[in-house]
Amino acid sequence: MDVHSYSRPGQVRVRHLDLDLNVDFDRKVLEGSVEIHFDALSTGDLLLDTRGLTIHSVEHADSFELGPADPVLGAPLRIVQAADTDRVRVHYSTSPTASGLQWLDAPQTAGKQHPFLYTQSQAIHARSWIPLQDTPGVRVTFTAKIHTPEGLRAIMGAANQDGQFRMEQPVPSYLIALAAGDLAFRELGPRSGVYAEPSLLDAAAHEFADTEAMIAAVEQMYGPYRWGRYDLLVLPPSFPFGGMENPRLTFTTPTILAGDRSLVSLVAHELAHSWSGNLVTNATWSDFWLNEGFTVYLERRILEKVYGKARAEMEAVLGRRELDREMAGLPESDRVLHIDLAGRDPDEGCTLVPYEKGALLLRTIEQSVGRERFDAFLHAYFDHFAFQSITTAQFLEYLRAHLETDVPLDEWLVQPGIPAGAAEPRSDAFDRIDSPDRAGWSTQQWLHFLRTRKDPDMAELDRAFHFTESGNSEILAQWLQMAVQRNYQPAMPKVAQFLSSVGRRKFLKPLYAELMKTPEGRRRALEIYQKARPGYHPIAQGTIDAMLK
Ligand code: BES
Ligand code: ZN
Repeated sequence: MDVHSYSRPGQVRVRHLDLDLNVDFDRKVLEGSVEIHFDALSTGDLLLDTRGLTIHSVEHADSFELGPADPVLGAPLRIVQAADTDRVRVHYSTSPTASGLQWLDAPQTAGKQHPFLYTQSQAIHARSWIPLQDTPGVRVTFTAKIHTPEGLRAIMGAANQDGQFRMEQPVPSYLIALAAGDLAFRELGPRSGVYAEPSLLDAAAHEFADTEAMIAAVEQMYGPYRWGRYDLLVLPPSFPFGGMENPRLTFTTPTILAGDRSLVSLVAHELAHSWSGNLVTNATWSDFWLNEGFTVYLERRILEKVYGKARAEMEAVLGRRELDREMAGLPESDRVLHIDLAGRDPDEGCTLVPYEKGALLLRTIEQSVGRERFDAFLHAYFDHFAFQSITTAQFLEYLRAHLETDVPLDEWLVQPGIPAGAAEPRSDAFDRIDSPDRAGWSTQQWLHFLRTRKDPDMAELDRAFHFTESGNSEILAQWLQMAVQRNYQPAMPKVAQFLSSVGRRKFLKPLYAELMKTPEGRRRALEIYQKARPGYHPIAQGTIDAMLK
């Protein structure tokens, strides 16, 4: 039972979608139809999730009715199917403010010549552009015909066969993805490549050169990559996330194009979801840690295999420290892995807890049973639950049947905080962070350096290391946050510029939060936000609206 969906897949289960959509950049709407193929498991109406959709008509139905809209869940669409049918076709259009779509005007793109559209369906935004059973517990195959204006290419997380998209592996609704714009493509490896606006293509291809090595690394540990191709799409800077693991087509922020491949842990992360998440999926958003905790664990195993143990350990220590920092500000009920999200927006469960506490649990189990046995277990787990959606209880049952461990699992899952006996990541490089020998330092070392300054002399640090001019988004974001905190005036123009040009929520949130702590900062935050808001994604707008209200 998924509290974030009106659908009743136990009665009628959707199996397949045929989409036919027109991308109207002038009106900022998607318009067309979806044919919905279903299995009727018992008598009952077909209940679909929608959000802000206008339903024009439904073919093969006796009647249909759009219920009242809830601010988080949207409105249920109840369809009384005609007798003897296993499909209905819904004709609909989206709203220009659909939460799962971002329509960018030409000036908001790198090339400044053409508009751009992309979707972001996780967690429950697919319903704002397709009427469907919007729960991760239901998987569908689909085809799609997407009509775009001349010269603008549409791509989807799906195979492209003669101008029509086809996804043959069943996927949950939150992984259905579309983008359209002035996109160019470059091969990276035998089964991987990158899409980006033409002016970013060289930088992107250089940054992601290790993609095939990463795919091979996971395959060695956990079995074959089951999705055919693995491509990446670099989005305009307003993309609200770092990355999104859409199957066959990871979406990424351009802020990871650092030039030195130092931020590609994000590629490792999104790729890892091809096993943890896309292959074995959380059945509800309370089980989100099954997606993200496993993925962070896999991400670090990939880093270790491709870049060595030192790099992986640095990332683990950074993650561990950030987890403690974030958990300190969370209520106890949000410090558990199996979280209760009833009556809440599932995005509220997206803290570092499912990510870092989840990964730490797996690392602790690995430590208790040994890497060899744990890897064999994970490999078997991915095979056993392949293309299924599972609950935390199912995971526990499988684990108890296949692995003997003394890790107190219930405590990890339902108690707040980090249980005693947790693994403790250590980095030698970080232990030596105060040595004056900084030649050849990695981005991760610089981040740790900044985060461990007790009473930094900002002007002195800036003179020595030029942080305000850093071209690395992670280092810059960390530095600017410290600059606001310590009212370091020379960095303030950069704060305004950064907040106006980047829409990645992870960077926006701490900066606005820091600004809001003083009356002067508050004034500045409102001034910046007023201008920057139209360039942010609806999801980021919602977050910052709530912070600045
Ligand atoms: N699937 C998530 C992004 C997401 C989570 C979108 C919840 C909407 C709701 C993706 O895999 C992710 O975790 N992205 C991270 C980057 C990662 C390296 C930790 C991000 O965007 O910061
Ligand atoms: Zn993730």
